[in-house]
Amino acid sequence: MNEPKVRRIGVLTSGGDAPGMNTAVCAVFRTARSLGIECVGVMRGYNGLISGDMHVLTVKELSGMMGRGGTVLYTARSEEFRTAEGRQRAYDNCRFAGLDGLITIGGDGTFRGALELHKLGMPVIGIPATIDNDIASTSYTIGYDTSCNTIIECIDRLSDTMQSHERCSVVEVMGRRAGYLAIYAGVSAGAAAILIPEREIDFEHDVVERIRASKLNGRTHFTVIVAEGAPISTDEVAKRIHDETGIGTRITILGHLQRGGAPLARDRVTAVRMGYRAVNLLAEGRHGLVLGMYGQELRNIDIEEALSMSKTIDSEMFGVADAVAGVL
Ligand code: F6P
Repeated sequence: MNEPKVRRIGVLTSGGDAPGMNTAVCAVFRTARSLGIECVGVMRGYNGLISGDMHVLTVKELSGMMGRGGTVLYTARSEEFRTAEGRQRAYDNCRFAGLDGLITIGGDGTFRGALELHKLGMPVIGIPATIDNDIASTSYTIGYDTSCNTIIECIDRLSDTMQSHERCSVVEVMGRRAGYLAIYAGVSAGAAAILIPEREIDFEHDVVERIRASKLNGRTHFTVIVAEGAPISTDEVAKRIHDETGIGTRITILGHLQRGGAPLARDRVTAVRMGYRAVNLLAEGRHGLVLGMYGQELRNIDIEEALSMSKTIDSEMFGVADAVAGVL
């Protein structure tokens, strides 16, 4: 490898945390060290850039973090960074700290922040990490698989007690304005109905009739998944199921349980590959990019182009959900 074009780089995590963020930070750190590049941890996302809260990362600090949930760098959604003054201060602090490049790990908002710094002249690379899987420029975001698995485990547990009491479990899952977590976990757990923002709801047809048909086939307990961004509230779903079918309902809002826990293999491997790629790009003098998975292929995408893309759930998944719901 030629002499790296950067000597000192920064790394930050921003937005909602996701399992695998720590893995990505560790991969960035280790790759940087292997190339003789100093790695600076910026604390609390863009807030740390604005306040200058950053320090050179050490082996000791990151020891044991590869497989830990959360983020050792802390995270935030920075209000100040939304202002031009805040962004300028962040950029000035990058320069003052001698950062030749910055790797930002997070979701959509994190990428938008990176684009602003890029426009000011800061060399940036974005790594997609959010449990929501709602970033258009990648088919997969770090944290999504671990979160799906947590949700499935919770639904399975709920299903045990629903079976005993012959009830319907109404489970609210995260995802912001997207239904990826809801539909993948719901299909995997055999939910009777899955209500997501991407699809209009005909409550009678999509929920009540499915539960009735399933009951006629002999089933006595049910699961209905409601994405937090769905066009109907979880309370209303539970009430209407009870009113229209007579079946007892119980609501579970999984909340932040979905964001915790040690990252599973897919998230770790993706995070390590992306951390490695991000540092190598900076070392080659390439930046203004975000990373994205296309199947097993890891691609670099121009950051402006990435942020102009749109993405929606593969329509085949709707067919899958309809086919497996409310039959057994
Ligand atoms: O973007 C990740 C996410 O967990 C969303 O699914 C959810 O809408 C949001 O963050 C919750 O944010 P907070 O932790 O600030 O309540």
